[in-house]
Amino acid sequence: MTVLKMAACAALALSQWTPAQSADPLAPTARWTGYSAGRGATPPMGWNSWNAFASAVDEEKVMGSARRIVESGLAGKGYQYINLDDGWASRRRLSDGHLIIRADKFPGTRTSDPDTPSFKPFTDRLHAMGLKAGIYSDMGRNTCAQAWSATDEDLPKGSVAEREVGLHDHIEQDINLYFRDWGFDYIKVDGCGLRDFGATSAKVKAGEARALRPVMDLGAISRTDVASVQALFRRVGAAIERSNPDGDFIYSLCIWGAANVRAWAKNVSNVSRTSDDISPTWGRLLVNFDSAVHRALYAHPGSWNDPDMLYIGTGDFDAAHLLEARSHFALWAMLNAPLLIGADLRKTPDVLLDILGNADIIALDQDPAGNQATVAYDSSDLQILVKTLADGDKAVAIFNRGSAAYEVTLQAMQLKYRADAPVALTDLWTRKQSSFTKQITLRAAPRETLLFRAHGSRILRDGVYLSEQPGKVNPAVDGVTRPIADPTIFRTAAGWNGTRGAGDRPQYAGWGGARADSAPYGQTLQIARQTYASGIGVLANSRLEVRNEGFRRFTTQVGVDDSATDKNAAVTFLVYGDGRRLAQSPPLKWGQDAKTLDVDVAGVRVLELVARSRGTDNESLPVAWGEAALTGH
Ligand code: GLA
Repeated sequence: MTVLKMAACAALALSQWTPAQSADPLAPTARWTGYSAGRGATPPMGWNSWNAFASAVDEEKVMGSARRIVESGLAGKGYQYINLDDGWASRRRLSDGHLIIRADKFPGTRTSDPDTPSFKPFTDRLHAMGLKAGIYSDMGRNTCAQAWSATDEDLPKGSVAEREVGLHDHIEQDINLYFRDWGFDYIKVDGCGLRDFGATSAKVKAGEARALRPVMDLGAISRTDVASVQALFRRVGAAIERSNPDGDFIYSLCIWGAANVRAWAKNVSNVSRTSDDISPTWGRLLVNFDSAVHRALYAHPGSWNDPDMLYIGTGDFDAAHLLEARSHFALWAMLNAPLLIGADLRKTPDVLLDILGNADIIALDQDPAGNQATVAYDSSDLQILVKTLADGDKAVAIFNRGSAAYEVTLQAMQLKYRADAPVALTDLWTRKQSSFTKQITLRAAPRETLLFRAHGSRILRDGVYLSEQPGKVNPAVDGVTRPIADPTIFRTAAGWNGTRGAGDRPQYAGWGGARADSAPYGQTLQIARQTYASGIGVLANSRLEVRNEGFRRFTTQVGVDDSATDKNAAVTFLVYGDGRRLAQSPPLKWGQDAKTLDVDVAGVRVLELVARSRGTDNESLPVAWGEAALTGH
């Protein structure tokens, strides 16, 4: 077959998996459609080989780190997955498609059949240590190291076809091998095979790899076939579910925020990378953090935003940079990120293990409510993140991104706590207790993250704002029609008000996804000049699913957000309860006062909030569900 014909076949194979478009995506489903298969009720914790070893991984390096995880007590604190990344595969055996392990690097995989090493003894050892085991593959024919590695040394060997160790054309076979035969519990599926092996790529031109028509481009959504990419990852997910009847798996996507995955991974996998690879530098930490921090509504128990593995132990996060290492850990916990250690644990000093082992901070990441922190105050140097915990307490992070020390005013209202009642704070680094009423002034050193658990009196006495519980809100349809990556932006420093209020928020033409306490493009929520400190901002023609655990009333003030540029289109707001329409607003246009909806939702398990409009461009019509709240237990 010529390369051209093969590329055409690949295109055909992909298009077969393009899902049928539903007739009306805004029609209520009466269901929570977020991903809930697997073991992702809380973010996975453990270790991954890539940051420490790249493709030069071997059995002793992995087992050494696994031993330290157990001996140091980190395993007992939840770090249980020991994940092999790229670099373990030797080749694919052409006679039967079986994947062959690099037995020289993993001697424990040798079996009585010298031609067929197996990871079963390896996963057995990890399981016997009370740990779980993870493996790596790629959605295309080849892996990322095969696309990007500077040397061939640790790459698969053999003919072009033998070096095709990715899932393409082998989904069922490889997934069964990993989970049923080899006993893995976790898989990370990378995406370089879907983007880096076009006919004009260097490796293909050099005859080192077969062409596969790229369906994904990290820089250009216009060169990305989102439906095909999504369909492929769904196929892998279905195969994983079939090969794990007990549901004991984690399915992790690694396509770096490409293909609009940040909008759909919540329906498809347990974990999804929101950015390109982290590196052990402060600047890169900021980029990766930024890729996830505004996406609280796109994560929930079962599916988490992944700003990449921890780099604690290296570079800007080594033992000489404890402040930065602590910030890294605190921020990842606030984001509900997977906590996957990326260090060679055989050599990691105790002082860094102490950071990784801070049980109070692990508890934030692992909090069963699964609410990713939302941004209460935003500026280029300082951010205040607030996370609502299962018991009603708040975790508060004051993050100094910059290089100057700041005096920071933390206000009770930023925590959605009452200003006339005391707020108790526990510093999660020092365990020091303090308390304040209305506001407190704190000092944050350059690159420091102050981290507290706070207990106060809620502004809403008998309920919650939806924006306080992003883990229970799923933007099933977010209205985005032109998905683009978040732009990297330079934001203003702290303004006239210090850190009081919501901050001088960046104004930019961005992504437009659903946001907690903010309009889709970052402005303060506002309807006809009335601002809302709480609420959900989303584009028109959207449908939000909301889990209701026992509340009796849903109240909100709806309208077209003042940030809309379409001043003519009318929007109708509808509230459904378990599929039944419970309330509907009149058609509302830009500049018209908000309409209050007050709905009896007693007994309702899933609410759906729909904003419908005809004949508009969604991106020019942001709407607000102001003060949206569930009350009355
Ligand atoms: C990509 C991923 C990394 C790592 C490498 C392996 O770059 O983003 O996390 O898995 O591939 O080659």
